Amino acid sequence: MPNIKFHKKGQIYEGSVESNTNLVVRAGIKQFPYPNLAFKCGMGKCATCACQVLNGAEHLPPPNWKEKKQLGDKVDDGYRLVCQLWVTHDIELTQDVEPVNAA
Ligand code: FES
Repeated sequence: MPNIKFHKKGQIYEGSVESNTNLVVRAGIKQFPYPNLAFKCGMGKCATCACQVLNGAEHLPPPNWKEKKQLGDKVDDGYRLVCQLWVTHDIELTQDVEPVNAA
């Protein structure tokens, strides 16, 4: 089971999830990383769920067109839209206090 380390506001939250898990879907049903993961649309349209991947990016698929559109150059800094990711391996993420939005 993938282990998730989630940094937010100087705290680290950690938990295990089933393989092939979407963290925004989990937060939507009030499971870890709820309530610390900020999100809104769940559809790659708002960038509220944007996180920077600190470790484990090598196991993720390349950013999709929604991520590139919302995040712009931030994808080069390891930012992803968590609602667009299905996690299959350990991952460490940090979410900035202010939402990231390239638009
Ligand atoms: S929750 Fe809106 S882009 Fe991910």
